[in-house]
Amino acid sequence: MTQPRYTPLVAALPANVPFVGPDTLERRRGRPFTARLGANENGFGPSPRAIAAMAAAAGEAWMYGDAENHDLRHALAAHHGCAPENVIVGEGIDGLLGYLCRLLIEPGDSVVTSDGAYPTFNFHVTGFGGILHKLPYKGDHEDPEALLAKAAEIGPKLLYISNPDNPMASHHPGTVMAEMVSRVPSGTLMVLDEAYVELAPEGTEAPIDANDPRVIRMRTFSKAHGLAGARVGYALAHPELIAAFDKIRNHFGMCRMSQAGALAALQDKTWLAYMRRLVEGSRNTIAQIARDNGLEPLPSAANFVAVDCGADGAFATAVLEELAQADVFVRKPGVAPQDRCIRISCGPEPEMHALAAALPDALARARDRTPG
Ligand SMILES: Cc1ncc(COP(=O)(O)O)c(C=O)c1O
Repeated sequence: MTQPRYTPLVAALPANVPFVGPDTLERRRGRPFTARLGANENGFGPSPRAIAAMAAAAGEAWMYGDAENHDLRHALAAHHGCAPENVIVGEGIDGLLGYLCRLLIEPGDSVVTSDGAYPTFNFHVTGFGGILHKLPYKGDHEDPEALLAKAAEIGPKLLYISNPDNPMASHHPGTVMAEMVSRVPSGTLMVLDEAYVELAPEGTEAPIDANDPRVIRMRTFSKAHGLAGARVGYALAHPELIAAFDKIRNHFGMCRMSQAGALAALQDKTWLAYMRRLVEGSRNTIAQIARDNGLEPLPSAANFVAVDCGADGAFATAVLEELAQADVFVRKPGVAPQDRCIRISCGPEPEMHALAAALPDALARARDRTPG
């Protein structure tokens, strides 16, 4: 029998995925979750205008999507006050991170990021043979100074930071990000992941010129716009870097429904303002549920809240597992000391009620399991 001859790089990769999806978890459990609060999706859903636009485009699904994403790209350029040549649209930030790594990383290249930061970025770096250098969080924030110091020491191809960050939902002012850009070493590209920035306090969006060749900024319709399943993300960067994506990207990777939905969502500013209020209300609800149970909610600049369970990672894992037993899906940070927390996504009232109902027993059972 002939075998596919994998590249040595792929043959050496572990067979794991960065996140096991909630649908997979449901199949494994043999029953659905009643509260889907673990994947930082937006349970409030997309703008009704986006839904209508996607429904209207459904009948056109026989056509490939516009390979240039022309209308969305132009609208995004107008929205950000830059040229369409500064904008690349792709299959979510995740897809774009994969393309970016393909453009820049070959085996042995170094990359700097925070330990416990967004794992899908690490997955792509490793997938192209890059070497990750991970710096610890400081006070539950990603640490710009430590990241810059490491970058100055080793001159990585990429320096990744997410603002606000996942999994802690902490944030730095946008000016701190702009200052970071001004200090990245020559030859290093800063990757600023702003997946949650529309939900963050005023001033979190970094004041960065899209023509600055030292940085690429990633945005998504998955979070504030509630379109995670439509898979629409985009990046803002220097035109030369944007043009390079055309050499390797899947030109027909976007579907017409997603393109139409994202365009309508971008135009519906009223819904976005409403969403900011809904998410803020939900953050407060999660914080209150945590406090009612003697736990400490961390401040959040995103559509999820990291809740300090007051002990170590094993205890937080036990809480997470007990919540899952009660059909409430949450996730948690993977690296100490942030792994003392569980991470709860914002969502509508029924989900919040399910969380509030399940948490006291889940905590009691977790305490029984981990005495001491
Ligand atoms: C920091 C960060 N970046 C990117 C993503 C993924 O974005 P997208 O859905 O556009 O791939 C997430 C999703 O959880 C995230 O937390």
